[in-house]
Amino acid sequence: MSNKTNQQWGGRFNEPTDAFVARFTASVEFDQRMYRQDIQGSVAHATMLTEAGVLTTDERDMILQGLSEIQQDIEAGRFEWSIALEDVHMNIEAALTNKIGNTGKKLHTGRSRNDQVATDIRLYLRDEIDLILLEITRLQQGLLGLAEQEADTIMPGFTHLQTAQPVTFGHHLMAWFEMLSRDYERFTDTRKRVNIMPLGAAALAGTTYPIRRDITCQLLGFDAPAENSLDAVSDRDFAIEFCAASSVLMMHMTRMSEELVLWTSAQFNFINLPDRFCTGSSIMPQKKNPDVPELVRGKSGRVYGHLFSLLTLMKSQPLAYNKDNQEDKEPLFDTIDTLKGCLRAYADMVPALESRKEYMREAALRGFSTATDLADYLVRQGMPFRDAHEVVGKSVAYGINTGKDLGEMSLAELQTFSDTIADDVFEVLTLEGSVAARNHLGGTAPNQVRAAVARGQEKLKQR
Ligand code: ARG
Repeated sequence: MSNKTNQQWGGRFNEPTDAFVARFTASVEFDQRMYRQDIQGSVAHATMLTEAGVLTTDERDMILQGLSEIQQDIEAGRFEWSIALEDVHMNIEAALTNKIGNTGKKLHTGRSRNDQVATDIRLYLRDEIDLILLEITRLQQGLLGLAEQEADTIMPGFTHLQTAQPVTFGHHLMAWFEMLSRDYERFTDTRKRVNIMPLGAAALAGTTYPIRRDITCQLLGFDAPAENSLDAVSDRDFAIEFCAASSVLMMHMTRMSEELVLWTSAQFNFINLPDRFCTGSSIMPQKKNPDVPELVRGKSGRVYGHLFSLLTLMKSQPLAYNKDNQEDKEPLFDTIDTLKGCLRAYADMVPALESRKEYMREAALRGFSTATDLADYLVRQGMPFRDAHEVVGKSVAYGINTGKDLGEMSLAELQTFSDTIADDVFEVLTLEGSVAARNHLGGTAPNQVRAAVARGQEKLKQR
């Protein structure tokens, strides 16, 4: 990166910027990633200025040609970014003037870096949200496929991480699907407030040129121009909202990760995570570690942190633009990168998960998971639920002492707890009977899981 002096505001200054201050205040090292949006915004601005009679068509054509060459230079790695030129905006503008001469200096008419940067970030974030939405959908697609495959697989369902009732693995996966559906909605909703155009607010008060914000708005695909110039240049709510939605999504992925870490352990052994998603240990030859879920779980920390960085960045800021706002980019960009990385890892990994049905089943058999089913059975025979709870509690205590699960006790043994118990009790004490009986919308029965998968597929089709 070169270090020429910045002459963009030369007029007022008696000495060049201190070299350290130039580096300290520069953002080009991280905001150059918005070069495409910056050029896109400038193309729209120059086109609009021509419609408004501020630039001639010749001037516009030179500017557009110059900007297009600059984009090619950047993409070919030929562009020399300069710290002295502070940010992506002034680097590109200076390069334009270098290329086409004085006409390049007209591009910034009726515009300020304040509305320019706010416009660029929104364009950038809009594109990234669209990619994130696609990736959430890809992950959800993987979950639907796996849930369908695992609709009949029985595992223990947990509360307090203690065996509670049998559930189907497909049902568990569809719970993850629901979390992600809400995330999808949150990003879609955030996108509405991202897609508002600050351009035209200029530095803070608007501009004296006869600008046509309807034209730039349409050219850039924004839903509407921002209503108030002071708010337009200073608002970063959309970035905070994005980080909030990202934090919730990360939180969901930590929950999935935690379960995968538990399930791949030798103690649970519910899941096999293919080797390509794991790493070994340099000292313990037997180890195969679930690094991907662990790392995703760990990366939640930086995303939550970025949310707080942005909230604090905006706290107490007086209207309108303040240099503080330059600090919005790194947290935002790192949130985007982190989210995309985690989503990609999960979308790749989920379809490759292999259930170990025998271990899941055995675990479900071990924890008296059909105790509620026995209580419900007694209630159907006319016993009040609280009494049934008591009876089953006693039979579980007996099971613990004798090392028998409820389904392993003889009819005679069960009848010592209640003489209303008959031979048909074994239908409800089986795992299959237990899950099949929860046969209503949102229940864990295999056919309900298949119905939920079908509804999920419909939902994804409509996106
Ligand atoms: N690099 C600046 C930013 O990221 C661009 C806007 C600078 N505006 C200004 N008046 N200094 O916010």
